[in-house]
Amino acid sequence: MDSIRPAPTTDKNRRRFLVSTAGVLGAGAAGLLADALIDNMNPGKAVEALGAPIEVDVSRMEPGQLILAEWKKKPIWILRREPWMLKTLAEPSLRQRLKDPDSKRNQQPAPQFVNGDYRALRPEYFIAVALCTHMQCIPGYRPAPHTVTPWWPGGFHCACHGSMYDFSARVIEGSPAPLNIPIPPYYWMSETVARIGEVNASGFDRNWSPDIW
Ligand code: FES
Repeated sequence: MDSIRPAPTTDKNRRRFLVSTAGVLGAGAAGLLADALIDNMNPGKAVEALGAPIEVDVSRMEPGQLILAEWKKKPIWILRREPWMLKTLAEPSLRQRLKDPDSKRNQQPAPQFVNGDYRALRPEYFIAVALCTHMQCIPGYRPAPHTVTPWWPGGFHCACHGSMYDFSARVIEGSPAPLNIPIPPYYWMSETVARIGEVNASGFDRNWSPDIW
């Protein structure tokens, strides 16, 4: 059973832009994934995998920090969202730009993973499969507003073909990606440890998979 604990950082000015790799990855794969997240490479053969559930310890994550783990041969984001990030998600000016603002498509394991605009069991911690639903590049983390477009609220941007996603990885109109980025099954084992790859709720379809990974 593996536990993930991101390294602390002391540079407060850069905290919103932090990207850490963590978890069950080997050092080489972790480095490749960090580069991939920033440069939007196709992960392809760079990703080695374990299919078993993984555990992620978020106790040392800073607000705004993104870490990267791996589950089932897929890169996984864990983002600790700040209050201002959460606030952007319900803005009408953003919601009207989204293809699926209410997450009605089959891109999360169960309704509790939709949770309004948050797409997370706990709004502060966003967990998603870090693959663009267009052609499976890894989108970059672009938290700073107004950087990708003048109206950009912050979120994820896939440089392969320009798909844009908000802080809940909901896809923005005009993107070639058709669907929101999938949410993996997970649950919180404690206040600080998430177990990714299974849920503890009864009635959950253990064979569930999204329409597009
Ligand atoms: S793979 Fe992301 S936009 Fe094409």
